[in-house]
Amino acid sequence: MRASAGHDRLFGGLIIRQKEPRNLETPFEQIESYLTPTELFYIRSHFQAPNIDVTSYRLHIDGAVRTPCALTYQELRDMPAETRVAVLECAGNGRVFMVPQERGAQWELGAVGNAEWTGVPLSALLERGGIAEDACEIVFEGADRGRPAEEPVPPGSISYARSLPRSKALERDVLIACQMNGRDLPQDHGAPVRAVVPGHYGMASVKWLTRISAVREPFHGYWQTTDYGYWDRLEGNPVRRALGEMKVKSEIARPQVYERLEPNEIYTISGAAWTGESEVVGVAVSTDGGHTWSEAELLDPAQRHAWRRWKLDWMTPATPGRYVLLARATDANGNVQAETHDPNYGGYVINHPLPIEVFVGNPATRSA
Ligand code: MTE
Repeated sequence: MRASAGHDRLFGGLIIRQKEPRNLETPFEQIESYLTPTELFYIRSHFQAPNIDVTSYRLHIDGAVRTPCALTYQELRDMPAETRVAVLECAGNGRVFMVPQERGAQWELGAVGNAEWTGVPLSALLERGGIAEDACEIVFEGADRGRPAEEPVPPGSISYARSLPRSKALERDVLIACQMNGRDLPQDHGAPVRAVVPGHYGMASVKWLTRISAVREPFHGYWQTTDYGYWDRLEGNPVRRALGEMKVKSEIARPQVYERLEPNEIYTISGAAWTGESEVVGVAVSTDGGHTWSEAELLDPAQRHAWRRWKLDWMTPATPGRYVLLARATDANGNVQAETHDPNYGGYVINHPLPIEVFVGNPATRSA
């Protein structure tokens, strides 16, 4: 399904997490369609959205390439384009569930969406520019600038810039996109041009893209060290690495947290599941806090980088009380959601099954 509304209805019921810069969340219980309508798609911006004039826009391709160039918007639009469906999930999605509370935007379940993206494969641009044999990463830079929030903060204002390993950058699925759900990108989603890196957390998909640079040394920019990094171990010592591939995850859209359900009736539990460089092959649901699990029915076809919605009919208990619902996905690479959050990720990669507490029966009689 395509987004039916025009740009006049940009925000169709998004939840404000921060007014400016704009950070708006999808009401996840409202996901009805395979593709998230553009006006319901979450927005995550670190700085005020830049207003880019398409006529003077240039996409610079430089660094370790044989032929550096600056493409106009029209030149980019005239190149052969491809369309792919891909999930974008903010690495901080679900942060509100963390106890104790983690710093940062308190996203619930809706900093995620599944959209159709159209653009030129990055690999085509790199081939055209003649990427050097020894270039190890590709740095994307956006036009937005400001002072970031997480300490330590470099002096002055900085732009939003992030690198991709060469191997991922040369995969055909990474797009330099001009369109989302069949229409030109809206300003908040990166107009006129953004990167879309399927399989990676959303921070890799740089919006308002103005520069693509091939580099010979690993890039250690702010947005992949101070922010959007995690602790790995090298011979027992903690080392900081850039977040990249998404981890397998499933979320319950309905019922909502703290919803009250009638006893003794069939309630259809529903949600969506996604993963990184693979596809979801199963979702199990528990209605008793993880003691027993049932397989949900997958509603969408298996497609790498896209999500699969799912559902399960639940006969709600006759006994009134508080029940904890969980969903746990498995992907084709055999990855299953871990039971608990890995503290090496801090306030990111919150992909353990998130508890959805509901009350069955009259709230006055609940046993919570
Ligand atoms: N690109 C730029 N230039 N500036 C940003 O602040 N935010 C990133 C990424 N690209 C960001 C950016 C993050 S953290 C996410 S999750 C996605 O954009 C969100 O994309 P969306 O706003 O289109 O949903």
